Amino acid sequence: MSIKTIFVQPGGGFDKVTVGKSEPAKPKAGEITVRIRASSLNYHDYVVVSGLWGPAETRIPMSDGAGEVTAVGEGVTEFSVGDHVVSLFFREWLDGEPTISDFSRVPGDGIDGYAREEVTLPVAAFTHAPNGYSHAEAATLTTAGLTAWRALMSDDALKPGDSVLVQGTGGVSIFALQFAKMAGATVIATSSSDAKLERLKALGADHVINYRETPKWGEAVQELTAGRGVDHVIEVGGPQTIEQSMVAARVGGHVSIIGILTGLDGSFSIISAIVRHLRLQGVLVGSRQHQIDMIRAIEANGMKPVIDRHFPLENIVDAFRHQESNKHFGKICLDI
Ligand SMILES: NC(=O)c1ccc[n+]([C@@H]2O[C@H](COP(=O)([O-])OP(=O)(O)OC[C@H]3O[C@@H](n4cnc5c(N)ncnc54)[C@H](OP(=O)(O)O)[C@@H]3O)[C@@H](O)[C@H]2O)c1
Repeated sequence: MSIKTIFVQPGGGFDKVTVGKSEPAKPKAGEITVRIRASSLNYHDYVVVSGLWGPAETRIPMSDGAGEVTAVGEGVTEFSVGDHVVSLFFREWLDGEPTISDFSRVPGDGIDGYAREEVTLPVAAFTHAPNGYSHAEAATLTTAGLTAWRALMSDDALKPGDSVLVQGTGGVSIFALQFAKMAGATVIATSSSDAKLERLKALGADHVINYRETPKWGEAVQELTAGRGVDHVIEVGGPQTIEQSMVAARVGGHVSIIGILTGLDGSFSIISAIVRHLRLQGVLVGSRQHQIDMIRAIEANGMKPVIDRHFPLENIVDAFRHQESNKHFGKICLDI
């Protein structure tokens, strides 16, 4: 029986998205078959599907996938039929230092992703999902959750009393807020919307700044921290936010270079980075071990992701249009 599958034609574009069928495969040795039940939208999926960075060939989109194991191949011991699992962004980066520096093996970009009802893949493509999570909640972890986790807990080693700045109310930033609070840090959060600032406070943000009304929000962060600056900045804006991120960081602070929401290229003051001893760290999601560590922490703390809205798989373009409107707060999910 064939399975419902979304395809994006070469070059991408919302008018190039079709709902079709693909053929399921039986698991070979070392593989599992997963009935995919949910995915979640990331800015990266948006650039692929919208055509900003469209695929070179016809592609099944979406980097994030969660569901239940329906069959296991010979020799598989890590998973059993019925287990709830969540996909990995880098199925070949198991542990240790990063070695992958492109998207050629990333589901939904260089290889087919999870916008389909079923996949059969090697066990390393998944980890167990957190206990008590719905499939949609689990699907939010692959990209946004893991990026925030790795930035704060692996590249840095956040400790109680540290301070963190998060920008805007997208998936990565909301996860970073939640992980920072989990670690006992003080969080300063920004948004373009006063209504969203109230929601950030309700989630635990200690201070909030409207970055539209306060374009020099880095200076506002300095004031809020009595001139010290924050220990860690989650930098998702890119060229138009990096300068203020560097102002917001303390001397010797850690700036996680994560996002490109305002473009790919820009300039910043190298001398500011030097004299302020800043640690500017490029981040590209994380390893399988990072995901296992993150899920352990989530289970120990009972943390749940913030889901803005659910859309059925076949309404994937509506989901991306909702993301494009920037009306969302946290994650947008696809039910499959
Ligand atoms: N390097 C990695 O491993 C990695 C992984 C995941 C994502 N990313 C990148 O991180 C960025 C965020 O991804 P996402 O999936 O979390 O996106 P998203 O959910 O689509 O986030 C969009 C939100 O970002 C905020 N925003 C937009 N422009 C902003 C600006 N100039 N300053 C501050 N906030 C701004 C807005 O929040 P308000 O409406 O509150 O203003 C908007 O709602 C993207 O560039 C994405 O490519 C990188």
